[in-house]
Amino acid sequence: MKEKIEELKKLTEVEIANCKSLTDLESFRIKYLARKGSIAELFDTLKNVSPEERPVVGKALNELRSNTQRLFDERKVLLEMSVNVETKIVDLTLPGRRRWIGSLHPITQTLNEIKNIFFRMGFDVVFGPEIEDDYHNFEALNFPPDHPARDMQDTFFISENVLLRTHTSPVQIRVMETQKPPVRVIVPGRVYRNEAISARSYCLFHQVEGLYIDEGVTFSELKGTLVAFAKQFYSSSIKFRFRPSFFPFTEPSAEMDITCFLCSGKGCRVCKQSGWLEILGCGMVDPNVYKFVGYDSEKLSGYAFGMGIERITMLRYGIDDIRILFDNDVRFLKQF
Ligand code: PHE
Repeated sequence: MKEKIEELKKLTEVEIANCKSLTDLESFRIKYLARKGSIAELFDTLKNVSPEERPVVGKALNELRSNTQRLFDERKVLLEMSVNVETKIVDLTLPGRRRWIGSLHPITQTLNEIKNIFFRMGFDVVFGPEIEDDYHNFEALNFPPDHPARDMQDTFFISENVLLRTHTSPVQIRVMETQKPPVRVIVPGRVYRNEAISARSYCLFHQVEGLYIDEGVTFSELKGTLVAFAKQFYSSSIKFRFRPSFFPFTEPSAEMDITCFLCSGKGCRVCKQSGWLEILGCGMVDPNVYKFVGYDSEKLSGYAFGMGIERITMLRYGIDDIRILFDNDVRFLKQF
């Protein structure tokens, strides 16, 4: 038994020096250190040793095991550091190991681009609370008390008067309450809606709101600004159209469509064969709104617009399920 231990000790010392790769090292581990390896086998025969000799042999065996483990660990460190195991010199010519440093979320990337475009046109970026009151989210935006958007189905109420904002428009009110005209801001942020979760809708998403108030602001300025934005954000060759629409806080109201950039307007699944994609809602601020914030509706005029960031991002990258934007799965995020 003692000779066997001695023999194994010499063998492991020779063989560890021959391990030139992590694969070699793994074979070494299986041969000697694993549960069915030579050392474990020797431990199994310990019961055949006479009781007087057993403590001494047992001690020698334990030493063999810890010695072999130490040889293994040291070798592993060397091999993992790409150290030349012969000379123990680090090979500086080996390519470095790449570190994953993460990337900006596609929503953040879209938001940044939108912010930059409007920033260049002179808009300030402001923020507002995600927990809002009924007054700012609805009442001051000229929502009649019985408007369906106040319905429990769309809004997450926290109490009768407190809710999670359903759009970024309440920040229009907050800005006008605290700032004298002229006002020229965009408001990026999260909004919440109590909708059934599906590939097309989620309980939270992002919007960018825009608001411009001054003396003599016209609808053609609204169009000009939004077209300039769309040409920079999408492409200078896109076509666009404004469709009449309705929002309680703008009059007149419109929705802006651009030519579907997936089929160039020919009609496809994404644009539902229409050739057009709706990208935002907008309109001239309703004079009623000015009353709530103490602005003079005789002197002032202005426009507002709002767009959904998830929708824009999904169209851009061909993402067909909104939920994937909220999963934070690195396999998805790595692609951006
Ligand atoms: N707040 C509107 C919505 O969420 C969008 C909008 C903003 C429309 C500003 C007009 C003006 O649908």
